[in-house]
Amino acid sequence: MMTSRIVATELIPCILVAFLAASIGSSDAVLPPPSQVHFAGPHGVTLTGILYTPTGFHDCRRAAYHSAVILMHGCTGIWSNRRVNATNADGTPNLQNHIEKWALKLASESIVALVVESFTPRAPPSLSQGDPEWQNHCSGARYAGTVDPYTTRVQDARAGWDYLVSLGSIDPKKIGLLGWSHGGEATMVEAAATPRHIDIERPASDHRFAVLLSFYPGCGSHLGFVDEIWSCGSSFWRPYREFQLNVGEQDAFHANCKKRTDIARRDFGSSIDFPAFPDAHHTFDAQQQAWPSDKCQFPTGDDCAMRAADIDGLAFLKRHLSDDESFW
Ligand SMILES: *[C@@H]1O[C@H](CO)[C@@H](O)[C@H](O)[C@H]1NC(C)=O
Repeated sequence: MMTSRIVATELIPCILVAFLAASIGSSDAVLPPPSQVHFAGPHGVTLTGILYTPTGFHDCRRAAYHSAVILMHGCTGIWSNRRVNATNADGTPNLQNHIEKWALKLASESIVALVVESFTPRAPPSLSQGDPEWQNHCSGARYAGTVDPYTTRVQDARAGWDYLVSLGSIDPKKIGLLGWSHGGEATMVEAAATPRHIDIERPASDHRFAVLLSFYPGCGSHLGFVDEIWSCGSSFWRPYREFQLNVGEQDAFHANCKKRTDIARRDFGSSIDFPAFPDAHHTFDAQQQAWPSDKCQFPTGDDCAMRAADIDGLAFLKRHLSDDESFW
């Protein structure tokens, strides 16, 4: 029959693409290899990202709306050991443990993952793009503070959202945001119902993300959302949507994050998931790259915190990415 022959002819490239993609595999699920992508960021910068896609994503027979998550790195960037373009043995990008683990896991769960790279594209002309010192923006480092987590990186996350939506196969209402530390701070700002400097709610049309998770951000006065004095306990920060905050109790950032959460719950009735991670420290979830298979019975320490945060964080994301509630 004419029609089926046409369909069959059109299918050939799709099958080929799917076959080629499937031939480069990662651990358990066979995923298409991640690719380096480029998109417009704030202030004329061209941002880079690493895009992890589920099996079938590039297969036009199954063109469908996918959900997605944007991953925002911490103050040492995305690359393993701060080596720009580091690769694994199979040629795929070698990212820091926590980032690569989440990206691969999400893709294996049929969720597109976009790792946004905020540092390398902004390397000053005087430095080579691969200079490892430029990958370190942690406090005390030479380049600390040159890429602002509370402003610039929020725009980077939103640029990532625009890019994903431009692909045409991702549901704009099903995009989550996940950030660690420096990127967790950007996530706190994007999650907020108001701008940083004034307690007036942003329009609902500006609320882009379906669910937001922040791992150990700084929650002190630099975050903003105070109109009096933060140390006296004033804050108008509260999330516009489902929010999870994962901070170890031994992390110096814990006290301020708990205070922000308590105030948001008390003064604004916010629903915030703030699990307890006793004896866990900053970057507790970066210890290993394997996705944990189970949780500890008595969750104390970094390893148990990582297991709980990974497993429960993924469940939290998936629950709210599959919600049918329409928020626009
Ligand atoms: C990293 O890889 C990209 C894409 O292949 C390339 O454009 C860039 O120059 C590389 N950067 C470094 C520092 O090797």
